[in-house]
Amino acid sequence: MNTVPTPKRIAILGSTGSIGHSTLSIVESFPERYSVVSLAAGRNVEDALAQCLRWRPRVVSMADAQLADALQRKLNANGIKDIEVVYGSAGTIRVATLPDVDFVVSAIVGVAGLEATYAAVQAGKTIGLANKECLVAAGELIIAAAREKNVALLPIDSEHNAVHQCMRGGTRQEVRNIWLTASGGPFRNMPLAEFEHITVEQALKHPTWVMGRRITVDSATMLNKGLEIIEACRLFDVPASQVKVTVHPQSTIHSLVEFVDGSILAQLSVTDMRLPVLYALSYPERVPSDLNFDLKSLSQLDFSTPDFERFPCLRLAYEAAEAGGSACIALNAADEVAVAAFLNGVIPFTSIPRTIEAVLTRMPVTHPATIPAVLEADAEARSVAREVLSSAASMATTTRI
Ligand SMILES: NC(=O)c1ccc[n+]([C@@H]2O[C@H](COP(=O)([O-])OP(=O)(O)OC[C@H]3O[C@@H](n4cnc5c(N)ncnc54)[C@H](OP(=O)(O)O)[C@@H]3O)[C@@H](O)[C@H]2O)c1
Repeated sequence: MNTVPTPKRIAILGSTGSIGHSTLSIVESFPERYSVVSLAAGRNVEDALAQCLRWRPRVVSMADAQLADALQRKLNANGIKDIEVVYGSAGTIRVATLPDVDFVVSAIVGVAGLEATYAAVQAGKTIGLANKECLVAAGELIIAAAREKNVALLPIDSEHNAVHQCMRGGTRQEVRNIWLTASGGPFRNMPLAEFEHITVEQALKHPTWVMGRRITVDSATMLNKGLEIIEACRLFDVPASQVKVTVHPQSTIHSLVEFVDGSILAQLSVTDMRLPVLYALSYPERVPSDLNFDLKSLSQLDFSTPDFERFPCLRLAYEAAEAGGSACIALNAADEVAVAAFLNGVIPFTSIPRTIEAVLTRMPVTHPATIPAVLEADAEARSVAREVLSSAASMATTTRI
């Protein structure tokens, strides 16, 4: 006899982003399995309105009071009175911790989603984790809370999702190495001398994935892979020395796990984030989907060692992973500030790793023991990064004079 599953009730943090849209597309495809209870958006009022009209969540959050007000007015104009509109970090926490939510998709970019993700873990929700910055900045705290509350943290980031799948083939003690694959980004083969002139448009053109702006630039500097190294250490409880990176331009193998007997398990699939979202939402089941991979397309699989001179962000990430605590917080925060400056045309591409290194050098390593302490260290690292950028700018002006 076929049993109809009770739909999992989902909160999406970052519903208006790339992962948010992938998640809603999965919910759309499997209405008998998943339902939307609450949504947290940032500044995109039009998209939040469209999502409210389509999904009728119980609660929706916007980044601030003004945006919440704008959404509320639009909902009123559409005659919708039964959606509670909230805002800010308290609003995101409310979205993530509603009693009737079973599963929280954490997909707000940056540390803005940290408090809500931690609150969701504390509230015992199963987490589908796309937001890597949460684990980088506060991994020790989140993992400890998840263990205490017996909460599953299911990775949506495609590499960790692949590792999670491969880990089903052995125990943690049987793992020799985790191999994260990297596409190498758009500048894998560009001569190093041309890096200084990389434009925003070039950096935003990822060869295989369509993603948000920050993660796309992070892929171009390979800092994204660096964050993933730290994320893997936290999720799978391994030291950084056991997390390796291999450049695999086809992005067909999403990652691999090498076991002590020499066996290597790999996960292959289409480059479509809906698949890791579906895996996380349906775990431990596997749900039939049309996200099929054509094996005949596997004409070539290349692997090479990443070039640490071309991509200094990788070295910085390994160093931060070894140091732990505030070094990881500073790595992420400094990068976010530097990437924003690059996207605004203020600094060249090559200043992104230079800024991160300067911030890491200036900040002593500490081990924050609470989420507010993590956020404080994050704010400090951002302010140091801004100082580094403004002193570099004034030096450039002086040199020009
Ligand atoms: N995209 C991918 O394929 C992919 C793959 C692996 C991991 N990830 C990770 O998943 C996370 C999301 O990535 P993405 O590509 O989906 O990013 P994105 O497209 O830039 O979307 C970011 C989301 O966060 C929301 N947001 C930003 N600031 C906020 C704030 N202060 N309060 C509430 N919401 C806020 C945005 O809202 P508005 O748009 O309304 O402002 C948007 O919904 C990142 O951590 C990324 O590293 C992404």
